[in-house]
Amino acid sequence: MTNVVRVGLLGLGTVGTGVVSIIQRHQEELQHQVGCPVEVRKVLVRNKNKARNIELAKEIVTEDIEEILSNPEIDVVIEVMGGMEQTKEHIARALQAKKHVVTANKDLLAVHGAELLKIAAENGCDLFYEASVAGGIPILRSLSDGLSADRITKMMGIVNGTTNYILTKMSQEGSSYEDVLKQAQELGFAEADPTSDVEGLDAARKMAILASLGFSTEVSFDDVTVRGISAVTEADLHYCEQLGYTMKLIGLAQRDDNRIEVSVQPTLLPTEHPLASVHNEYNAVYVYGEAVGETMFYGPGAGSLPTATAVVSDLVTVMRNMRLGVTGHSVLVPLHEKVLKEANEIEAKHFLRLRVLDKAGTFSTITSLFAEFEVSFEKLLQLPVEGEEVAEVIIITHKTSEENYEKLYQRLTALDVVESVESSYRVEGGN
Ligand code: NAP
Ligand code: HSE
Repeated sequence: MTNVVRVGLLGLGTVGTGVVSIIQRHQEELQHQVGCPVEVRKVLVRNKNKARNIELAKEIVTEDIEEILSNPEIDVVIEVMGGMEQTKEHIARALQAKKHVVTANKDLLAVHGAELLKIAAENGCDLFYEASVAGGIPILRSLSDGLSADRITKMMGIVNGTTNYILTKMSQEGSSYEDVLKQAQELGFAEADPTSDVEGLDAARKMAILASLGFSTEVSFDDVTVRGISAVTEADLHYCEQLGYTMKLIGLAQRDDNRIEVSVQPTLLPTEHPLASVHNEYNAVYVYGEAVGETMFYGPGAGSLPTATAVVSDLVTVMRNMRLGVTGHSVLVPLHEKVLKEANEIEAKHFLRLRVLDKAGTFSTITSLFAEFEVSFEKLLQLPVEGEEVAEVIIITHKTSEENYEKLYQRLTALDVVESVESSYRVEGGN
């Protein structure tokens, strides 16, 4: 082991700047923990003439990746530049050159994580990615270390700050979806293209990473059922509240006998559920383990310093492993074959909002259909619509299988007495 750890940093944007700042400001603590100084030797950027709000010697910043990948003096590569194929190539090359890698790149890991972890193991290198899920919350380490003795059966996460911010502001302040999305962009939570936030793709990538680690299997982005929040209306949020629920974009990963389901969708939670009180851009992950029971991890899910804390903590682990001579052993081989549940194995409650004809017989037609599918009502609300001969009916069902619910939903939309099915959401929590 060298008497200084030399880092090559790919990217000096929001997260990269935070990484440099923490390494500079917390040098004493880092040295105390790992026994030697940590030095940022080279930083890759797209444009080295761009003004930066961090002080770095001019010769450290480069636009040439070879100054890092082919540099024998670099021990650890920190990738915080984002991107897919080219970035994957850089990480693979770094590992093949026996450099340890720390990354915050959820997009890449959700698709190529298993392949990159294999390359890391083959080359005796560490590959850590704590910052890829829920920013500053040490959730991956909690799963792989703190809860390693347990068998995790359920994880529910608010893992996207932008959508949580939007839903909070819409429901608490009555703001419009478009206005709050703009605010989230201005505040820097949203991705460059916010489609991946609002359509649930960012959360789905994070849930694929969480489920892989929590269930010791290989879940990829394509295995996650995804629905975003772009169609959620203020009326939906209002009725949720009236019935005692809060709507959140929930990433759910659940397993029963090693058959798993992973989804991201707008979900109603009872207002007393711990995840219902996670507001604004904050993230939280609820984890249920067979032995430990319920646990919850809460904190900032994005931003420069919170995310950089997770990145630098991974760097500390790499450095400790280097000192102990145990790098490359941290890569866990999945224990279980991935088996996804079929629609008839996924059970959930549902919220339904219908516009129905306000006349005698409507209700009995609807209840007969529910009876035919053996779906019972848990809660029911009917409100006349002013000036129209229709009523709004809001139903919370008891649990039924996805397959059964889908068939019921199709038949409901075809009923003469139902003018339209305005919305339908999954309901979690409670009995
Ligand atoms: P960012 O602010 O856009 O910064 C990206 C940096 O990488 C910039 O310095 C850019 O150089 C450099 N870069 C990008 N492409 C490059 C290329 N092809 N060659 C050389 N340099 C390149 O991004 P960020 O928000 O820091 O995010 C970085 C990564 O962390 C992403 O994978 C993101 O998903 C992940 N992440 C971010 C957050 C967050 O809160 N921001 C949280 C968790 C994870 P220039 O400065 O010269 O343009
Ligand atoms: N756009 C992401 C979010 C950034 O809103 O959570 C952190 O991954």
